[in-house]
Amino acid sequence: MTPKTGTLYGIGVGPGDPELITLKALKVLQRVPQIFASCSSKNNYSLALNIVRCHLNGAGLEHLPFPMTRDPKILQEAWEKNARRVLEVLEAGDDAAFVTLGDPLTYSTFGYLLKTLKRLRPEVKVVTIPGITSYSAAAALTHIPLAEGEESFYLVSGALGAARLREVVEKTDNIVMLKTYRNFGEIYQALEELDLLDRATCISRCGLEGETVVENLRDCQGQSMPYLSMIIIKKKGKGY
Ligand SMILES: C[S@@+](CC[C@H](N)C(=O)[O-])C[C@H]1O[C@@H](n2cnc3c(N)ncnc32)[C@H](O)[C@@H]1O
Repeated sequence: MTPKTGTLYGIGVGPGDPELITLKALKVLQRVPQIFASCSSKNNYSLALNIVRCHLNGAGLEHLPFPMTRDPKILQEAWEKNARRVLEVLEAGDDAAFVTLGDPLTYSTFGYLLKTLKRLRPEVKVVTIPGITSYSAAAALTHIPLAEGEESFYLVSGALGAARLREVVEKTDNIVMLKTYRNFGEIYQALEELDLLDRATCISRCGLEGETVVENLRDCQGQSMPYLSMIIIKKKGKGY
């Protein structure tokens, strides 16, 4: 008889408030013997793990280091090492969870782990449990509808600056921009040129200590943003 291999659960834990987690995620987290979370290779900190800590029942916790680089070779090597560590647990017959901020398939490290695992062991069983995204929680906090009627909204990254924003601005009614902190100055300038500052709301640390909402981006001129910040832009305005 071939030994049983465990299942990996990719779990979205929501953007910060420990109550914004699904029942399905909670049940798995309270049952699996091992929980993984990614962290930067510079520290051993995982916000996703901190969010769910109050719900846990004594599972083993382990950080998987994720180098902060765009070098594909270094990233590939790190993810291969991380995936092999997860496989070790699964192949010993245990189930495991990998927790991640917001939703696991939206700008998440889980995507890298999933691809690497599937490449190394195509037969490995993975179950993904969706999570509430940061922008769903931010929309709820600010009462900003992300799309109504026939409108569309685009989700873009600000990690490389304002280029993506400029690319999509003509094509859509609403834009949600994540990863805005590093290039906030450039993004601010682009929104000023596009005459959209008054239609842009900045939400930082949604559901966490230090949560802030700035309803008009003009009030952020010259400021720096925390890592957990996003901008919601409604080209037609909020309507109230
Ligand atoms: C790597 S992405 C993770 C996105 C996440 N998987 C999701 O579903 O929302 C990190 C970015 O998400 C946004 N973010 C995540 N949590 C947030 C929070 N609590 N408040 C504000 N922005 C948040 C920020 O723009 C941050 O730079």
